[in-house]
Amino acid sequence: MPTENMIRIPIETHTPYEVLIGKGVLANTGTEIRRVAAEAKKAFIVSDDTVLALYGKSVRDSLVAAGFRVYTLAFAHGEEHKTLATAEKILSTLCAAEITRTDVLVALGGGVVGDVCGFVAAIYLRGVKFVQIPTTLLAAVDSSVGGKTGVDLPAGKNLAGAFHQPSAVVCDTEILSALPDRLFSEGMAEVIKYGMIGNAAFFGALENGQADLETIVETSVRAKAEIVKKDEFDKGERMLLNFGHTFGHAIEKLSGFSLSHGEGVAMGMVFACRYADKIGFSQEADIAKRLSAVLARYRLPAASPFTGRELFAAMVNDKKRRGDTISLILPRSAGDARIVPVPMETFKEVLTGL
Ligand code: GLY
Repeated sequence: MPTENMIRIPIETHTPYEVLIGKGVLANTGTEIRRVAAEAKKAFIVSDDTVLALYGKSVRDSLVAAGFRVYTLAFAHGEEHKTLATAEKILSTLCAAEITRTDVLVALGGGVVGDVCGFVAAIYLRGVKFVQIPTTLLAAVDSSVGGKTGVDLPAGKNLAGAFHQPSAVVCDTEILSALPDRLFSEGMAEVIKYGMIGNAAFFGALENGQADLETIVETSVRAKAEIVKKDEFDKGERMLLNFGHTFGHAIEKLSGFSLSHGEGVAMGMVFACRYADKIGFSQEADIAKRLSAVLARYRLPAASPFTGRELFAAMVNDKKRRGDTISLILPRSAGDARIVPVPMETFKEVLTGL
């Protein structure tokens, strides 16, 4: 396909790579992967049953045309399959296919596929290349970029993992525009997050419905790139990306995961605004109301069905907790969020009053 409408965003981690964004770029998958895996003879696609049925053939054809011998493994879709058992099955299949260190894995799917495939790529033969092809908005704007990989354990989500950067990300916006409404909205929660934490103009564009899909994806990926460049290994500023997530994970968990990650994050961001308002941290009056209106525009819920007291009880094991303090991400205004360490006692007191 012609390259003039493609956007390339550099991700400056210790192993730099690019995110390629554009309508129809899936057809360029083979060429893109050849650019970053010149010596590879084999490409191993990891996907789920739903996504493989939709896009597997295009990706396979493109890889074959670029000279790869192609292998495929698809597991059943859903978060419940983001497990060590799935990772082990993929690892065994890689061995059977005699995939070597110079070959490349291809994660074709949403966040679950990307996380599991990335994790396998991090540990197979102590690390092989992989390329992300995100097929959900959430994966495109968040999980496919930045190198966080992993699986869930019975004790909680993402409890086993590794930092392992992809060698490229290929993001076809045509796929994203065909997503079912609920899946699209789920990704919009992360998009709105980028506006809230650091880009007031972008937040305003979302508020007024003025951002088209390419702008939404490009702006979000650039925002993530900026943060990951400064803090690849999540020791400081990257925590800003957790805005709404500490509360959101608790909401998701309490709902028995009937609420999606994006819905939990949407409600969690509103909780964070209310918290910031309550302690006088927020300098913008009615910030929760303003955020709620933007969420509604993108069909996302704002009101949590659970109280602050219930959230606190569900949150005591959160990874963001460090000893007796918890790092909250709180907004000063729309477009300016900060990392605020809060003693657990204070946190409990304020949250249970919300
Ligand atoms: N999804 C949050 C991060 O990449 O840090």
